[in-house]
Amino acid sequence: QVTKQYNNDLFGKKILVTAGPTIERIDAVRYLTNNSTGRMGYAIAEAAQLRGADVTLVSGPVQLKVPNNVRFVQIESAAEMFEAVTTRMNQDIIIKAAAVADYTIERQHGKMKKKDEDFTLTLNRTQDILKYLGEHKTTQYLAGFAAETEQVETYARGKLVKKNADVIIANNVGDTSIGFKSDQNAVEMFFKNGASRKIEKMPKLEIAHEILTSIKQDMHVR
Ligand code: CTP
Ligand code: CA
Repeated sequence: QVTKQYNNDLFGKKILVTAGPTIERIDAVRYLTNNSTGRMGYAIAEAAQLRGADVTLVSGPVQLKVPNNVRFVQIESAAEMFEAVTTRMNQDIIIKAAAVADYTIERQHGKMKKKDEDFTLTLNRTQDILKYLGEHKTTQYLAGFAAETEQVETYARGKLVKKNADVIIANNVGDTSIGFKSDQNAVEMFFKNGASRKIEKMPKLEIAHEILTSIKQDMHVR
């Protein structure tokens, strides 16, 4: 197994990973969500655990097996994820791979009935969990993701600053051969000190190991 070579290098490190989409319920049978499968976050949780870390995985609804020996917290909405993460901030590393809804909606009771007229949904902004963590962190190393379809570096660096993260891991979701639904991924990491690192297309578990290794190195120099 590839993980042998890492020799428990994250032993004792407390790592919290968020993964998957959130779902925002509209009524008893309808909801708003997105394309995230959770695979990248689950791969990071698995890789970290295999390297000896004490891993907590906070996950939205996905069709994946929970990695062995991780603390698992199931959530549904962005508000529930906010609560689950902010009450577990005592970590060495927090990696926010989840695709959190930017908007929620006031839930209607029962199943809504259709009418003849058009219908307008009013969406309300959710809290930005990563930004909150950036504003309240003490010694935690904070890693965010950025899903972009264009101007990847500009937007990723913008998020790095706005959210006070230590690194933003950018996913080009416009490239349909990789990303969300694929087993493979390619990412670029943008660090606070201005450095960046491209990780070429490879299976998500290998990407996860590369991300963790880069974070570990960056923690020593930051
Ligand atoms: N994020 C979060 N809470 C939210 C929205 C996003 O913690 N309510 C986190 C994501 O988990 C990710 C990072 O912020 O780590 C960037 O998410 P992304 O959707 O790419 O960026 P946004 O800041 O939401 O901006 P936009 O969707 O407009 O690109
Ligand atoms: Ca967003």
